[in-house]
Amino acid sequence: MTVEKTKDLFKKCIEYTMADEVKELGLYPFFHPIDENEGPVVSFGGRKLVMAGSNNYLGLTADPRVKAASINAINKYGTSCSGSRYMTGTVNLHVELEERLADFFEKERCLLFSTGYQTGQGIIPTLVQRGEYIVSDRDNHASLVAATVMALGAGANLARYNHNNMEDLERVLQTIPESAGRLIVSDGVFSVSGEIVDLPTLVKLAKKYNARILIDDAHAVGVIGKTGRGTPSEFGLVKEVDLIMGTFSKTFGSLGGYVVGDRAVINFIKHNAPALIFSASPTPASVAAVLATLDIIRTEPELMERLIANTDYVRQALLKAGFTLMPSRTAIVTVLISDQMKTLYFWKKLFDAGVYVNAFIRPGVMPGHEALRTSFMATHQRVHLDKVITEFCTIGRELGVIS
Ligand SMILES: Cc1ncc(COP(=O)(O)O)c(C=O)c1O
Repeated sequence: MTVEKTKDLFKKCIEYTMADEVKELGLYPFFHPIDENEGPVVSFGGRKLVMAGSNNYLGLTADPRVKAASINAINKYGTSCSGSRYMTGTVNLHVELEERLADFFEKERCLLFSTGYQTGQGIIPTLVQRGEYIVSDRDNHASLVAATVMALGAGANLARYNHNNMEDLERVLQTIPESAGRLIVSDGVFSVSGEIVDLPTLVKLAKKYNARILIDDAHAVGVIGKTGRGTPSEFGLVKEVDLIMGTFSKTFGSLGGYVVGDRAVINFIKHNAPALIFSASPTPASVAAVLATLDIIRTEPELMERLIANTDYVRQALLKAGFTLMPSRTAIVTVLISDQMKTLYFWKKLFDAGVYVNAFIRPGVMPGHEALRTSFMATHQRVHLDKVITEFCTIGRELGVIS
């Protein structure tokens, strides 16, 4: 084999021009650095914009009590644990948070991970082994898809069902050999649309077909359920859902992930998950921030009420103006544009007008599903929400998205 005949691995990178082309058009919607972040308002290049795309649902990243908790933890434990939970990387705060989250979610045990992304990777390939089945909603978050791919590499099987379609879930469950273990995996609140899983039917089917359930509740905590306890609590089905996982990067105002469930299952994951064992533990500052936000979530339910009222206010105004929205009653309002270039232009015009949202374009979404995803905070004021609505309507008319 000559060197000339070998295909260069990096050829695809050199030939990848899409991002640069969008940048040249001045429409690039990604990686814009924020210089200052007050929560509902952020600053880009010294210019203030209303943030309508953050997952900081209760606005707690800017709360002085949460900031102080992080600073105190750094003073006591330093900036890093410099090792995995398994070895030298466990501090008192990790244990305290695990106990308090287990109690909050009404489960026996909790296990922390360093990100939500890693949490899926810690659970799915560890539990679903050779010959067993992952039964997955087609619209599950990318991190669950990546975790599933890992499990498939080790001999597990995948059975996917159409998005939140319980008839299709039953059809899929019927195709799985009776003797095989199976885990139904679904987002609680779907991250693109904000739609809530049909948990009552999913639970019934899981019972009928002897499947275990994992719900990723990243976008539900602090948003739905009893005092923000998420989707299983919203439906009164906490006992029926075997495992609930989530992230600290949204309502909890920090970084990291967790899973709660029965003692035996959490203990098994704790001692067998490479994503936990071979990765450094969440920093003391991150964990302390979550402990502080947890106190606030428990004791200030009015924040969640304000979040829902804020989101409903925008949702109703955009619907009235004629926009097509994805189905949601959570803190996410996704406006369907259904055209790649129009989505980019809309995003840029909003940015220039002082409103920051998320552009969902290919390959992140299927052709025809291009959209602008907005999300709201308890700490948005009416003036912020009105700005978002006004700019959406003006630009929507200009671009012919609404009439
Ligand atoms: C449903 C869902 N699961 C997992 C994650 C990953 O969480 P993290 O940001 O902590 O890695 C996200 C974040 O985008 C998410 O939306």
